[in-house]
Amino acid sequence: EIGKFADERKVNAYIIGGFVRDLIIGRKNFDVDIVIEGDATVFAKELAKRFGAKVHTYERFKTATVVFKGGKRIDFASARTEVYRAPGALPEVDMAPLKKDLMRRDFTINTLAIKINEKEFGKLIDFFGGLKDIKDKKIRVLHSLSFVEDPTRILRALRFATRYRFELGKHTERLLKIAVQRKLFKTVEGQRIYHELKQIFLEDNPLRVMNKLEKYRIISSLFPSISWDRFKKDLFERIRKVIIWHKLNFPEKETKYHILYFGALFLREPLNRVEKYIKELAVPQKEAELLFQILKNSLPLIKKVRLAGKNSEVYELLQNLPEEFLLFLAALPQDEETRNRVLNYLKSWRFIKPLVNGEDLKSMGLKPGPVFKKILSKLKYAIIDGELPNDREEQLTRAK
Ligand code: CTP
Repeated sequence: EIGKFADERKVNAYIIGGFVRDLIIGRKNFDVDIVIEGDATVFAKELAKRFGAKVHTYERFKTATVVFKGGKRIDFASARTEVYRAPGALPEVDMAPLKKDLMRRDFTINTLAIKINEKEFGKLIDFFGGLKDIKDKKIRVLHSLSFVEDPTRILRALRFATRYRFELGKHTERLLKIAVQRKLFKTVEGQRIYHELKQIFLEDNPLRVMNKLEKYRIISSLFPSISWDRFKKDLFERIRKVIIWHKLNFPEKETKYHILYFGALFLREPLNRVEKYIKELAVPQKEAELLFQILKNSLPLIKKVRLAGKNSEVYELLQNLPEEFLLFLAALPQDEETRNRVLNYLKSWRFIKPLVNGEDLKSMGLKPGPVFKKILSKLKYAIIDGELPNDREEQLTRAK
């Protein structure tokens, strides 16, 4: 449909980047990026009008996002058609705007495009040998200055290599090593590093990416005081398992899973040093607070959970904590019983409600007030502690 629309407007349109890469590799990807050889903002506005969709445009970058009914989003970008040429310069053959656009990208595997205009629909465009590199399972940069232009690509290279089980190309690996040696990370804004670390931590297996970063001495280059030791590796693996469990049981909860890994990375560092790292990375306020809460309180708290007597005491310790904090506690190395306490809280205790409610208390002749809350929470604790069965009659009797 979008291809037809592009035909009407007499512009070329291509799906590019990650979507095409993942289509060929056979991995799910729902982020569609379309490049228009022309002005994408005008195109997106007209398209949205035609389909009754919403559109956000960013004139400065000539990009737009169209949100269709049902929530499907598609991003549009402009491949610039204008050509700057010095006066009196020799005439040159214009390079396709699409090619210029793709040339600025990080790795060959990300430079594939598929034309979607009706007459050449589905035509694969491969200026830089991306298809071959996918077949060869290689991550390769397009040119020697790629890591210098953007050192965050060092992190991206190892993230993609891990995700697809690809190798770095020989030349690319050499360039990466040189870039690390020259400490090019120092030239990058902290928030961009944070963004890429977050992307790593949102992968299925961050531990494997981290081991690769360690191999190239990138962790100590980013965080000189942190050693990538057995304890951290084990914790990363435990966090991975807890996240799998959590996604299965609470798929609808929006959880900032990456914060758990940042917590593991910084655990046992002196807090003032962590503060310095957090500042350098420009971690967003809310995430910074959550991270700090985890680093400061999780070890003391898990000890209290271990030493608590009754289940209801555990409940009191854990209630109202952020989901990420609870998951971090569940992932900490500890004895079976303590871990089960945290898991039981996550799975069931926090959802327990007495079968008696305020109405019942009223009909017993009680006046609504703070006493209601007290009675109901006593009932709840009794259920959690296994002293009261899940039986309305018995609970009513206890309430009385
Ligand atoms: N890109 C780049 N240099 C960067 C970041 C991105 O050249 N530092 C390019 C890449 O070619 C990439 C595109 O911008 O294809 C979009 O990047 P991103 O949003 O990270 O998407 P994906 O490549 O799809 O990665 P992912 O599958 O992790 O979302």
